[in-house]
Amino acid sequence: SFHEIETAMIERNQRCVPIIKGEKVVGVITRTDLIRTLHDDVFKTARTRTLQRDEAETGGPHRNVAGLLRSRLPHRLMTVLEEAGRLADRCEMALFVVGGCVRDLLMGIQNLDLDVVVEGDGIAFARKLGDLLRARVKVHERFGTAIVLLPDGFKLDVATARTEYYEYPTALPTVEQSSVKKDLYRRDFTINALAVRLNGKGFGEVLDFYGGQRDLNDKVIRVLHGLSFVEDPTRVFRAIRFETRFGFHLGKDTTALIAGAVKMKLFHRLSGHRLLEELKLLFSEREPRQSIKRMAELGLLRFIHPKLSWSDRLERILNAVDEAVDWYRLLYLDRKIDVWLVYLMGLLEVLPEHAVKDTLKRFPFSEQQAMRLKMARVGSHNAIRRLGSKRPITPAEIYRLLSGLSDETLLILMAKNKGDTVKRHVSAFLTTYQQVKPILSGTDLKAMGLKPGPKFKQILEQLLDARMNGAVVTESDERDLVLKLTEGKTSD
Ligand code: CTP
Repeated sequence: SFHEIETAMIERNQRCVPIIKGEKVVGVITRTDLIRTLHDDVFKTARTRTLQRDEAETGGPHRNVAGLLRSRLPHRLMTVLEEAGRLADRCEMALFVVGGCVRDLLMGIQNLDLDVVVEGDGIAFARKLGDLLRARVKVHERFGTAIVLLPDGFKLDVATARTEYYEYPTALPTVEQSSVKKDLYRRDFTINALAVRLNGKGFGEVLDFYGGQRDLNDKVIRVLHGLSFVEDPTRVFRAIRFETRFGFHLGKDTTALIAGAVKMKLFHRLSGHRLLEELKLLFSEREPRQSIKRMAELGLLRFIHPKLSWSDRLERILNAVDEAVDWYRLLYLDRKIDVWLVYLMGLLEVLPEHAVKDTLKRFPFSEQQAMRLKMARVGSHNAIRRLGSKRPITPAEIYRLLSGLSDETLLILMAKNKGDTVKRHVSAFLTTYQQVKPILSGTDLKAMGLKPGPKFKQILEQLLDARMNGAVVTESDERDLVLKLTEGKTSD
């Protein structure tokens, strides 16, 4: 049966199955054939199944969410959707809002990233809509998509309903124009495969072919078919992201398919770039520690590095990273840092140095990110030794040790040092020393007769040190110090 072939393809990682008559190969079934056939099966049964099973739980397949849209979306965006719907009517195309924003709408979460799908030429539709709304339109011919950028900052992603077939796993998809039902079938999870109609028979009608509303109610993440992770292994990380974000759990079959993908080591085929993008998204959510633990349970940490695994030490470090990041967020509500990088630093902390080097090579970090990662893991040994030692240390010395480090690196320093001493010094640096400035500026020094040059710079630094250490308080203290440093010869 097709399902046996599907299992064989997944388990043995085969791209095609030969059909043999006697000794001769007479044909071949490819993954594309298989997905097409499974599509057809699903399309025949999906609608009736959804009708029967979900009616009671989810308000039925004819649920209308026009009111919900109106109450949730800013008035301006709602008008845009209505305008777009009327335009689609005039063009005799069907138009739907799809994906994450529908999921969030039904969950009562605000999401203004609107994705719409057109049954027809999406790019032509986007251009017309752009003219109508006096909006700029950015087109991606290759994917049949466009972004309509509205003058007031809102945007609308427009796509052509399509069926995608992957020639081989992890390849970019081959795109075909199609119906919304098929478009939804190529998506990652049932909860992301919901659509809302924007024109024709009924504005606001929910299209739920694959049980998405039921899974939202049951809090389950479920793929639509068995080859979903083979087509796109990054979906495994997306699954964990949604699980953690919404407090959902993976369906039984989906968990088994992930185990299959791990066994097949599908993630080795992902480029460093794609894997890093997923990790960034995952570690930028609210509870990265939870997601990392989940990755460990599912056997995924080894795809970051074969030597990476869950341990008490890692758990301790990640707990401490949580604490440091929360503290930082509270302190600097307005300052942005790459939280994902701090969690990655936490992971690198439990790897041997050669594995850290491998990881830096495997992923395309920017020069700055790579530098920060290196500083966190190996470059800050001396600073830590000095900060943690019992010898007395002045604020100025702490300032000199830490002032070249990024905030991300400072947070991991706080997290990875068990004792209180380092934490205290780093926190004093971030909250106090960093803000200290002498009263006298370079201009004041010039007015005192000093000429810019190495000596000039040194004096400014010494002024700063003195202020940090409390050796000067008033402006006149600072002037006295300048005179002392130049031995009264300020006109040299
Ligand atoms: N999608 C998919 N497979 C992927 C990535 C995306 O099927 N590997 C589909 C999903 O239907 C998803 C939609 O494309 O809803 C848009 O993707 P994206 O914007 O990345 O995700 P959202 O679901 O909007 O999630 P988020 O809230 O994190 O932005």
